[in-house]
Amino acid sequence: MAHAPSAASGTSASRHSASRQPSATAIVGLQWGDEGKGKIVDALASRFDIVARYNGGANAGHSVVVGGERFALHLIPAGILHKGKPAVVGCGTVIDPDWILKEIDGLIARGIDCSNLMISDRAHVVMPWHKHEDELREKWLAAKSVEPIGTTKRGIGPCYADKVQRGTAIRIGDLLRPEQLATKLATTAPFKTAVLSAMAQGGDTSAFHYDQAELLKHAAMWASRLKPYITDTSGFLLDQIDTGKTVLLEGANATLLDVDHGTYPYVTSSTTCSLGAPTGTGIPLSSVGAILGVMKAYSTRVGGGVMPTELIATEADRTLADKIRTRGREFGTTTGRPRRVGWLDLVAVRYSVRLNGCTGLCVMLLDVLEGIDTLRICTGYRDASGKDVPFVPDANWLSNVQPVFRDVPGWHGDISGARTMAELPAGARAYLDLVEEFLGVPVAMVSIGPGREQLIHC
Ligand code: IMP
Repeated sequence: MAHAPSAASGTSASRHSASRQPSATAIVGLQWGDEGKGKIVDALASRFDIVARYNGGANAGHSVVVGGERFALHLIPAGILHKGKPAVVGCGTVIDPDWILKEIDGLIARGIDCSNLMISDRAHVVMPWHKHEDELREKWLAAKSVEPIGTTKRGIGPCYADKVQRGTAIRIGDLLRPEQLATKLATTAPFKTAVLSAMAQGGDTSAFHYDQAELLKHAAMWASRLKPYITDTSGFLLDQIDTGKTVLLEGANATLLDVDHGTYPYVTSSTTCSLGAPTGTGIPLSSVGAILGVMKAYSTRVGGGVMPTELIATEADRTLADKIRTRGREFGTTTGRPRRVGWLDLVAVRYSVRLNGCTGLCVMLLDVLEGIDTLRICTGYRDASGKDVPFVPDANWLSNVQPVFRDVPGWHGDISGARTMAELPAGARAYLDLVEEFLGVPVAMVSIGPGREQLIHC
């Protein structure tokens, strides 16, 4: 319950905010990404005043199908598809200006109004050296026979690392202060030239010569084109919340890729779970009321790292994985890489549900499982001795667990036309009941196809 401020508690604005009801809802992925968060954001955006993205960069890929047209969004929140709605890219994101400009141009070319896009002046700029370092580090691991992280090579990790290092970081707001930017580049460009050339280990080091003058010129282009969108989004959001506006918080990547709480080290470099929403936008924790967890009806993963329920051991497994991959279009929106496919892992999802504090679930891509006689759901883990063990977010731990499956009957017949739960076959409803019961959180929405209209509100 909101607690009443004392008479001495300050201005009317602070009294107002202390008695305010939570006005933000967070959307988070519960698995390893690509759960369909973009579609849920798109479905809910009209009920909120603002949509704000809080983490990640061009590593994310949200695809939304509107009127048969597919929109692949990487940095811009899916809320942009709702005319007139502020779409905020928050301070917790890392932005490759060339990417976001390409995305803006692509949307405008398709008739989408981007004038309500707002980019945080505190978000960090992904510079060319971040992408180069990402690639070099992955190559280094592979050369040492260590499984690479399997990054998207979009410079995400090195950019977040510079943010924490501070001295060599560049923020979006710096683009609007050319003199300050010139000073930063004067220190950073030679430093990065030296470091990356050394990392290249005698390879073609000319590839890592960062010319200050050229960079400054390119940054001036970024600044002139991005200027209309750059602002103090954190201040904007606080002001909006104070006047009772509602915010939909769009998480990118997913919980099991969270840098602290995911399957480390095979994770991304940001706080992807709901805990990242306040810090990545600058709104208070107490303003987040509802947290919707988005999960696929099965599991997928791109890049390295263990996935306990992966369909990979036998020829039959791999054939089934291919079938699911094709039906679910399980190829990276960002990199085009085929996604690894596995049975639904409710042990991992339950971990995510608890960590995020989910208040509702969205089960996506249920239609993809149609026509499989027996479906398997992982409801426990065992170690080599047969002892029950919990989910621990650590790659080493997970590589030593064996999934315990519950087999359930599948269903036959196309479900993509269903618009109510009652229209789903008994097998599909039973599958959802099991999910809900195991996770202890109600299913709020079920997606049965890529289209905007192919969504059952429970
Ligand atoms: P990075 O974020 O590019 O550093 O990649 C780290 C890991 O996270 C890799 O395994 C990526 O494939 C994975 N990853 C990052 N973003 C996403 C996403 O939006 N969906 C799925 N996987 C992702």
